[in-house]
Amino acid sequence: RRGPAAPAKDQVLTSDPANNVTEYIYSKMGINLHHQPNHPIGIIKQAIYDYFEQGSPGVFKAFDDMYPVVACTANFDEILIPADHVSRSPNDTYYVSADKVLRCHTSAHQAELLRTKQPAFLVTGDVYRRDSIDATHYPVFHQMEGVRIYGPADWEAAGLEATAFAERELKSALEGLAKHLFGDVECRWVDAYFPFTEPSFELEIFFNGKWMEVLGCGVMEQVILDKNYGEGHKAWAFGLGLERLAMVLFDIPDIRLFWSDDDRFLKQFKAGDLNSKFKSYSKFPPCYKDMAFWVSPEFTENNLCELVRGIGGDLVEEVVCIDNFTNPKTQRTSNCYRITYRSMERSLTDEEINGLQARVRQGVAEQLKVELR
Ligand code: PHE
Repeated sequence: RRGPAAPAKDQVLTSDPANNVTEYIYSKMGINLHHQPNHPIGIIKQAIYDYFEQGSPGVFKAFDDMYPVVACTANFDEILIPADHVSRSPNDTYYVSADKVLRCHTSAHQAELLRTKQPAFLVTGDVYRRDSIDATHYPVFHQMEGVRIYGPADWEAAGLEATAFAERELKSALEGLAKHLFGDVECRWVDAYFPFTEPSFELEIFFNGKWMEVLGCGVMEQVILDKNYGEGHKAWAFGLGLERLAMVLFDIPDIRLFWSDDDRFLKQFKAGDLNSKFKSYSKFPPCYKDMAFWVSPEFTENNLCELVRGIGGDLVEEVVCIDNFTNPKTQRTSNCYRITYRSMERSLTDEEINGLQARVRQGVAEQLKVELR
């Protein structure tokens, strides 16, 4: 393990009534994949740092050990996320207490770093989101945030109005980044919405025969900058997911692989090498278990996935709703979920899977207030 230590357990798994963090999630804290130079996540991080350092030597300051437990004010309010935004729901975000969360994005550090008067910074860290379970979703992943601030001299020298200047600089910096990572790819800009930028965009690249989203970005909302940095400036900001980029760049088919300590995975990547392609090693057979139940109004798929992950850990490859219907007479709805169990490292025995599935069924019946069929 390298990088910052894990937060103390009693700081994260509290008895606060708002706390919805699990042992499983806590066990991922402090692993810091982005601090491992030969790990795909560390390789991509370093490649992005190198790109910005080459383009603007000495300008960007990198932060990659910021504490992942942050105030709701930092994660939401200070970057203008409205009170009723879905990302504030405990169905989507891990709360440590009513006013503290596991950051759900690196944008949680924007306001704080603006207040230190850094004119340009990059923040890399683990972020946490309650979500469904499949090959591209994992409740912990890594993001990098980039911010750059300009003064009047910058846009005046370019003969541009401030926002137009920041937008132009943003787009050229990020198109350059895409080419640095992916080679001579075609880029396109798609209009987007984020509460903390205006205008906002998503960058897409044409890679392996299709358009794929690479990051979200935009010109920072002026009040965030005025309040935390000082008036009279203009800034751009972007945020990107490192797993997503690494999966595409290195052909990594399952997001769980990043957490594997199997040498057959880890030995395939080397610091500074953006060209290696993952060669899959023998896959063990999957095991499918179906489970049907009458749902209640409080039921959510994220809660089901959290429970399944708490029992099956990284042996769970996917949880997917394969069927649902509503009884016309009783108006009750039944969902059927298929859980795929598979280890990346070994073959699982029937006994082990049956044991897990029995615990899942029991947990679902007891904790999710649904009726098993
Ligand atoms: N925080 C956004 C996300 O997680 C990404 C983003 C960062 C967008 C900065 C714009 C500016 O999706």
